[in-house]
Amino acid sequence: MAGNYSKVRGTADVLPPVAYQYNDVERRLFEIAGRLGFAEIRVPTFEKTALFCRSSGETSDVVSKEMYTFTDKGGDDLTLRPEGTAGVVRSAIENGLINDALPQKLCYLLSCFRYNRPQAGRLREFHQFGVEILGADSFLADAEIILLANRIFEEIGIAEYVTTHINSIGCKECRREYLKALTEYFSAHTDELCDTCNERLGKNPMRILDCKADCCKALAEQAPRTVDYLCDSCKAQLDGLKSVLDDRGLRYEIDPMIVRGLDYYNGPVFEFVTDRLGSQSAVGGGGRYDGLVEELGGPHTAALGFGLGIERMLLLAEKVGVPAATPEKCTLFLIPMGDRAKLAAAGVKAQLQSAGIPCQTELVSRSIKASMRYANKIGAEYTMVIGEDELENHSFTLKQMDGSGETAVPELGVLAELLK
Ligand code: HAM
Repeated sequence: MAGNYSKVRGTADVLPPVAYQYNDVERRLFEIAGRLGFAEIRVPTFEKTALFCRSSGETSDVVSKEMYTFTDKGGDDLTLRPEGTAGVVRSAIENGLINDALPQKLCYLLSCFRYNRPQAGRLREFHQFGVEILGADSFLADAEIILLANRIFEEIGIAEYVTTHINSIGCKECRREYLKALTEYFSAHTDELCDTCNERLGKNPMRILDCKADCCKALAEQAPRTVDYLCDSCKAQLDGLKSVLDDRGLRYEIDPMIVRGLDYYNGPVFEFVTDRLGSQSAVGGGGRYDGLVEELGGPHTAALGFGLGIERMLLLAEKVGVPAATPEKCTLFLIPMGDRAKLAAAGVKAQLQSAGIPCQTELVSRSIKASMRYANKIGAEYTMVIGEDELENHSFTLKQMDGSGETAVPELGVLAELLK
């Protein structure tokens, strides 16, 4: 399209019938999560910028490089949400959910905005299905959401291609010792770190573990691992989680490289990874964030959740050949000729719609031949021409579009029964 009005880089138009496939998967995600008691929450598309800075952390890539931030006409500093957790937690505090019976189990489907370099599986506007549990400290909750994500993968046909990677990044206490060791390690290699990571070293050395530059990646692989610095309680939590997953027979890997790109996490964290989507290998991720509710002004609340990338899950399903859901085809396409016939066709359409049978009427003045061609194109199963003669003689013909035959119909009132 001529430059000026084409879509913005990193955004996507989802056309029919692909939009139907999105809708089908999204509906099933809510249904699967609903079976475990997760209730849908909807939060605003934009929030105060400070909310994301406080929750994700100033040194995260999301906050430092990727946010769509703007000042509105009233002078407020606002940001299009780069993820769902911060808004959901804010809303739970602001609306008192956090003071209600705990745990609160919430789920959501939302658009997110991140200014990054677009490529297959990475967009600037994308969609996440997420769940959050607020007020649950047991490892049973961690196990529940990891198993839930895997149940989702199973039900949409991609489980075989997704592996769960788990790590624990420890609580504040064990993190203190760990950060000391990490700082010491990277300080001995400052000349090998990229410029950004040299800055990160003083502010938040764990972010270096997430750096995509080859020089930093190589160093990160040899760096001290969080799992070696866990306190007894963090160790017990990770062991408890593993015992449930083992008992359920879930295939997972303990992966010390999973540190997550957002600052609010503590304890067990995880990512759902595939080797079928190139560098955009995470179809989802999440973990515990026991300090976030308090950080945002609520009471201390153990909490956790995950976010799954809708586009990446659908891309994976397509890549591995999961049959796409298809919308219901038109059962009957009516071609009325003349004013009386048009009224009769409108009556038939209403009758079939009430009976739940997909029916369309010709909306364009054109030849019967052209109408038939259109009916064929939209995949109509039957067509019926309604003209003055047919109405006069009470003699209609239901034509099967695959050429397999015709049925004589004495009156229009019996069509719903016939087509059921
Ligand atoms: P996240 O790992 O930043 O976590 O994002 C979750 C998922 O969103 C990713 O695994 C990926 O599938 C998808 N995603 C992220 N960025 C893009 C992009 N640019 N294009 C397409 N898909 C993308 C979070 O956002 C946390 N809020 C998850 C969470 C919920 N943690 C606790 N509760």
